[in-house]
Amino acid sequence: MFVDPKPVDPQKLQAFVDTLTQEIHAQADWGKVADYIPELAQVDPAQFAISIVLADGTKVAAGAHHKRFSIQSVSKVFTLACVLGRVGEQIWTRVGREPSGTRFDSILLLEQEHGRPRNPFINAGALVTTDALLEHRAPKDALSEIIGFICAACEDDDIHIDRDVAQSEERTGFRNIALANYLQSYGNMRNDPALTLGTYFHQCAIEMTTDQLAMAGRAIAQLPQAPYVMTRAKARRLNALMMTCGHYDGSGDFAFRVGLPGKSGVGGGILVIAPGRASIAIWSPGLNAYGNSQVGTYAAERLIKFTGWSVFG
Ligand code: DON
Repeated sequence: MFVDPKPVDPQKLQAFVDTLTQEIHAQADWGKVADYIPELAQVDPAQFAISIVLADGTKVAAGAHHKRFSIQSVSKVFTLACVLGRVGEQIWTRVGREPSGTRFDSILLLEQEHGRPRNPFINAGALVTTDALLEHRAPKDALSEIIGFICAACEDDDIHIDRDVAQSEERTGFRNIALANYLQSYGNMRNDPALTLGTYFHQCAIEMTTDQLAMAGRAIAQLPQAPYVMTRAKARRLNALMMTCGHYDGSGDFAFRVGLPGKSGVGGGILVIAPGRASIAIWSPGLNAYGNSQVGTYAAERLIKFTGWSVFG
């Protein structure tokens, strides 16, 4: 079992996140909320929440940590976990595991690489994993599996899809529609693209609080208190992909500044994993130029400086 050589004092950590939250509210630059999904464009950017679960199960939180937000691309981690359980390593014949260096919704590399997306976290790759989860069953069953997985991981049944957000993206998700059809033209969709897209938009519209998300991340962090929802080998795979691809073309910057595996979403959520030490969920809806939470990234950077949790020492 992992033994932390310098465990953090939970009381000092609580004082740190309280001060950080105050500092963040005093500063002005929150970034810009995602506006290509009309429902997300209405969210007030001046919001912040952080929740941390430590190896012994202690919880530390500050800000709006009871407020539900749209997890969007953070859901791709849970879908991939389900797919790895269902089809195992076969998924890598359909999607790669290399950083793309392109925007999350880019179509650029798909033609060059004959319809095999670079990784499962860019939209094209996530559409392929959702398609793999959907094979031979109805969208509601694939969605139940994802939600069931999340509920088991965070030991909380109160996890739901915001149907307004899903419908909002269904009306305006032209790039994803283009990506799914392009994948289909290369034979890399097993279902009707409309069904895969519908499932994907609903999975992205799952809403959670940072408290719930941090609890769900415990299995990926392999914390001793985490319920058994995946093998250690699977958690290792997810961490590697989150570190190298979890922030799209901002993944290098996130690794440089934070030094931990992380997965962002355009709803402003970030799940950060300190393997063996902690699961961290941060939310602030304003985004930076890469489409990742601006203040959330800053908060993760400050937290890791305070705790010394970077995997790079
Ligand atoms: O597919 C989309 O565009 C959104 N439902 C999810 C994208 C996303 O969260 C990218 N993350 N930063």
